[in-house]
Amino acid sequence: MRLTSLLTTTARWGRAALALGGLALLPGCDLNFWRMDGPQSTIDVAGPVARSQLMVFYVTCWVTLVIFIIVASVLAYATVKFKARTAADEHAEPPAQAHGNPLIELGLIGASVFALVIIAVPTLKAIWFTYDVPVGEKANAYTVNATAYQWWFRFDYPAEQIEGVGPLTTSNELVIPAGRPVRINLRAMDVIHSFWVPKLAGKVDMIPNRGNFIWLQADAPGYFWGQCAEYCGDSHAVMRFRVIALGPKDFNDWLNREMAPARQVAAVKPTVQFASYTFKTDWKRNEYGYSGRYDANPLQAWRVKQEPEPNEDPALVARGRELFKDKTCFSCHKVRGQHDVGSPAYPDLTHVGSRTTIAAGLLENNADQLARWLSHPDEVKPGNKMYLSGYLANNIRLTRDDITALVAYLQSLK
Ligand code: CUA
Repeated sequence: MRLTSLLTTTARWGRAALALGGLALLPGCDLNFWRMDGPQSTIDVAGPVARSQLMVFYVTCWVTLVIFIIVASVLAYATVKFKARTAADEHAEPPAQAHGNPLIELGLIGASVFALVIIAVPTLKAIWFTYDVPVGEKANAYTVNATAYQWWFRFDYPAEQIEGVGPLTTSNELVIPAGRPVRINLRAMDVIHSFWVPKLAGKVDMIPNRGNFIWLQADAPGYFWGQCAEYCGDSHAVMRFRVIALGPKDFNDWLNREMAPARQVAAVKPTVQFASYTFKTDWKRNEYGYSGRYDANPLQAWRVKQEPEPNEDPALVARGRELFKDKTCFSCHKVRGQHDVGSPAYPDLTHVGSRTTIAAGLLENNADQLARWLSHPDEVKPGNKMYLSGYLANNIRLTRDDITALVAYLQSLK
């Protein structure tokens, strides 16, 4: 009799555990999900600011886990101990009722205060630490200005002034020195956005007409995902960016390349080879534009992007450069040294070919995705200005050959 009831109970618990296990497997249906080391993981951190924030999370988790275990044990004990065991128990009078026990109440107040202090001490320390670059590190800090627009990010480097132009400017991919604190001044030009690089630091809002800042640091060279974390309109969900942290030499080399005007490819071939070039055209509206083939070694993929594309067709590039003007792209987008009209209110494309992503970190920077972005900007990023005030307002029509040439041109801008 005892054995059967024990077996029934065991089976019941087993099923419950299986059900829980099944639930646990649902979200990703694979174990990768439970490693929690995805590109936007706040658990798998890569810098001191995110690490101190993670510590606060862990301390809070452990304290609440201890409280949960104590409360659940007392509840389980009371449930088992005072359970009605016989028919007589079920009709018995309840035990004598009492109100208040000073020892227990004072004890509970004391325990709550103690638990709060355990959480408060590391929390206050983390608030202090994450607020601004530590005093001793200030002289070593590098400053970048980040400006948010619907729906992309502009990054200015005030320490790198280009004669007659102003600070070095890039878009959607923020390159920083690794192992050094980086102070980022946050600005917004239209609505409220939020700057978030999960592996490096928590989010801070970018508010129009109100200066804000964040600091972060990458422990080592790496490639990090970031995104806008404040709802900001139609394409908020696809307003992303990347952070590339480089060692001192790599960072300086990058600065030197970036300060230079756009790479000029001389047209030496007499004719344009449109036919030799094909790209995918049957895109579904929400089709993923990121293959994941960079993920194994994204930093290496970024390095490859700094080099000229293989199979570059100089005549095609030259045709693309003309089209960039003919189709009025140049009136918004600056390509320093070739098309200098553009305004800082639109992504600077001087070195767009050397970025790993386009369309604010949404699409991989390759010929297929560039062609997709140029042919269907409204589908990739609904409500974007390039489509509304560019394509529609200026009645821009691009043929397949136009797109082929523009893609080759954009890819040549290293
Ligand atoms: Cu910008 Cu959400």
